[in-house]
Amino acid sequence: MKAIVHKKYGSPEVVQILDVVKPIAKDQEVLVKVYSSTVNRTDAGFRSAEYFISRFWTGLLKPKYTTLGCEFAGIVEEIGLNVKEFKKGDRVFGFNDVSFGGHGEYLIIDENKAIAIIPNQLSFDQAAPITEGSHYALSNIKAAKVESGQNVLVYGATGAIGSAAVQLLKFYGAHVTAVCNTKNIELVKSLGADEIIDYQTQDFTKATTKFHFIFDAVGKSSFGQCKQLLLKKGIYISTELGKNAENVFLALSTPIFGGKRVLFPIPIINKEIINFLKDLVERQLFKPVTDRKYKMEEIIEAYKYVESGQKTGNVILQIAE
Ligand SMILES: NC(=O)c1ccc[n+]([C@@H]2O[C@H](COP(=O)([O-])OP(=O)(O)OC[C@H]3O[C@@H](n4cnc5c(N)ncnc54)[C@H](OP(=O)(O)O)[C@@H]3O)[C@@H](O)[C@H]2O)c1
Repeated sequence: MKAIVHKKYGSPEVVQILDVVKPIAKDQEVLVKVYSSTVNRTDAGFRSAEYFISRFWTGLLKPKYTTLGCEFAGIVEEIGLNVKEFKKGDRVFGFNDVSFGGHGEYLIIDENKAIAIIPNQLSFDQAAPITEGSHYALSNIKAAKVESGQNVLVYGATGAIGSAAVQLLKFYGAHVTAVCNTKNIELVKSLGADEIIDYQTQDFTKATTKFHFIFDAVGKSSFGQCKQLLLKKGIYISTELGKNAENVFLALSTPIFGGKRVLFPIPIINKEIINFLKDLVERQLFKPVTDRKYKMEEIIEAYKYVESGQKTGNVILQIAE
């Protein structure tokens, strides 16, 4: 089978398309023929190993799993002897950031992990981007214990995480102020944002509203910059470590004093969460934003675009027609 392979960590150019051995589903596993995947910041982060710490999961000296692609949508081709939830021919989507595989023609995943049946009306391209940005957004929203009526600011509302965060926050009943580029104002309004700050013409740190929660979904701000915008016990979360990994240290120190604080939650995705996201999609309460679509052969360009920090929502990778 064909797969996008990286045998060493590095720039987008380390990947190549190779013939590799088709995996076989063990007892509890499902073999999926992949039609669509995405190219996202998770794949890019594990491929580059820019943060050395990522190697503790994916291999210290070289990648343990050489085909990335944490998101996938496709058709179940084979099932292991003990698989109960899925059958051959099921249309499925899911997320796997342990052994990956979405950037290959076939992948295997344990049926008890984050895999679910694609909602009826959705294409593979629509189903593949349901999980990545949204589960990061959800983990952060849950950590901040957002309640209905609370004021929340999302900085970077047009990324995969930010665009999911705006929609999920509306689901939880928050009053959402979204910070985005002029060109994306209409998009962000369509996601449900109540207020919009155009970062090209306004400085969001000068806002007069106070917030229960500031979520920097692109990791471009700092707690220091945002502190004066937070209510007394307000919470700040960023998707990046910050300067000198300050967000990790602030997450350890600020909660001690009981006032404004930084959190740095570990993202979680499992069966329950994928089914929750699926339910929101079915009820039309969440729709992943999609941007460009690339073919397998264009993977290097796709990575370069994703790593430019300019994508709007999610980038699709077509694996099969
Ligand atoms: N290491 C990992 O495993 C990992 C995994 C997932 C995510 N992350 C981190 O999480 C963050 C978000 O990821 P993502 O995939 O959601 O992001 P993304 O899709 O790459 O975000 C790009 C978006 O951010 C907007 N943006 C860029 N600069 C901005 C600024 N100064 N102010 C406001 N918006 C700005 C861009 O819109 P405009 O340019 O049009 O404004 C674009 O829509 C990234 O920092 C990423 O590194 C890391």
